[in-house]
Amino acid sequence: MEAGTPKKPWGGRFAEAQAPLFERLNASIPYDWVLAPYDLLGSKAHVRMLERIGVLSAEESVALVSGLDSVAGEVERGELEWRLEDEDVHMAVERRLTELVGPVGGKLHTGRSRNDQVALDVQLYLRDGVRGHLERILELMDVLLERAGSEEGRRAVLPGYTHLQRAQPVLLAHHLLAYVAMLERDAGRFIGWFESSRMPLGAGALAGVSYPSDREGVAQELGFAQLSWNAMDAVAARDGALEYLSAATICALTLSRLAEEIVLWTSQEFAFARLPDSWSSGSSIMPQKRNPDGAELLRGKAAGFIGRFTSLAALVKGLPLAYNKDLQEDKLYLFASREELDLVLEAAAAMVEVLAFDSDRMRAAAEGGYAQATDVADFLVAEGLPFREAHAVAGRLVALASEKRVSLGELTREELAEVDARLDERYYAVVDLDTVVAGKVSPGGTAPARVEEQLAHAREVREGLVREIQARVSAPEATEQGGL
Ligand code: ARG
Repeated sequence: MEAGTPKKPWGGRFAEAQAPLFERLNASIPYDWVLAPYDLLGSKAHVRMLERIGVLSAEESVALVSGLDSVAGEVERGELEWRLEDEDVHMAVERRLTELVGPVGGKLHTGRSRNDQVALDVQLYLRDGVRGHLERILELMDVLLERAGSEEGRRAVLPGYTHLQRAQPVLLAHHLLAYVAMLERDAGRFIGWFESSRMPLGAGALAGVSYPSDREGVAQELGFAQLSWNAMDAVAARDGALEYLSAATICALTLSRLAEEIVLWTSQEFAFARLPDSWSSGSSIMPQKRNPDGAELLRGKAAGFIGRFTSLAALVKGLPLAYNKDLQEDKLYLFASREELDLVLEAAAAMVEVLAFDSDRMRAAAEGGYAQATDVADFLVAEGLPFREAHAVAGRLVALASEKRVSLGELTREELAEVDARLDERYYAVVDLDTVVAGKVSPGGTAPARVEEQLAHAREVREGLVREIQARVSAPEATEQGGL
């Protein structure tokens, strides 16, 4: 050992000190300190379990638990000093505990490996993260529901697009509710994540431990419904982490689509909506600019989610059982995605809340885009024309209107008669935007009555999610013990 180089807790068989460069490469403490509250929660449950099975005396257990509480206090107050030489959060906590409580601190790690310990910490961390995401998804749903259910949302007509070409007119509420429907599934994926969550502690390094650990008791204390039942799987599995990143990535993709629409709508070309100054940025060179940077970043941040998901998939691919140090890197992806998902969910809600729609512009765009052409064809079908022919007639009307640079409703009786004799004065009611919208009466359609149903349904969906979250996702036991 070089003078002055502290020995590692695992260094019993080592004669040489760790190369400083290796120490840097090997250490996860620069980022995994974030796990400290979860690590402490898990350690307390572990100590109580060791006492229950007679491995620790009551006095030892009390000393360790109160020591862990002191460390938790230091972590909370930002007083605990993280040192590279501690290597990771687990050893930093144990080092500090031992400084505080003396040699009994050395008993904490009995019947446990860092492999099952870190697997538990990550489960607790993700569980907490999922709760936060679900809360924010509900908030975003609320804002969308608010905007959709308003007088404006239920009245304003805008073109719905396919291929980013004006397709058919829809109610603004109908468009916004599409995002509520997506968010319902995004929330469902996070709730579903709880199903696959298993309590890994007790697996030891990979083979189990030489104590009859009360794993059920630990699971109960920490609010887990299930135990991982194979010790190798418990320490090697990262599919739960991948599932989390997949749910987070899909949710980020939902937000990126909403963001892209905000970018389009607030452009001068569309001008369907305006973001207030508080959500716009200027240009350092072009004085006239008002850029939707917030929306662009929601769109841009989705790229990072995809990257982190694929990074973890690549990390796990072909990895032999059980634990390999590669797995230490999973935290970088998980931490960034948890933090960023909260940020983008909150920002999306804030932007939707302050978006000022211009319903005249939206209506004019729907009018100018011949978005009623399908309805003209449907009218001709009702007059006895086969749909294909009706489609062709409506197409000729569009060509004529486009040539004359007028909307479909501005074609004269004479012009209509030239195209098809069946097009009489009833045509004008057919191409009225509100009539067109009102005609989409199929369930899920954009007719006002159907949109009212969707609004009611979306509110029920929201309430259902709240109930499901309360039943399956909240863990009162853990909340009492660590605010988790
Ligand atoms: N810092 C490590 C990680 O995050 C903890 C587990 C270390 N296990 C080991 N066998 N070296 O993966």
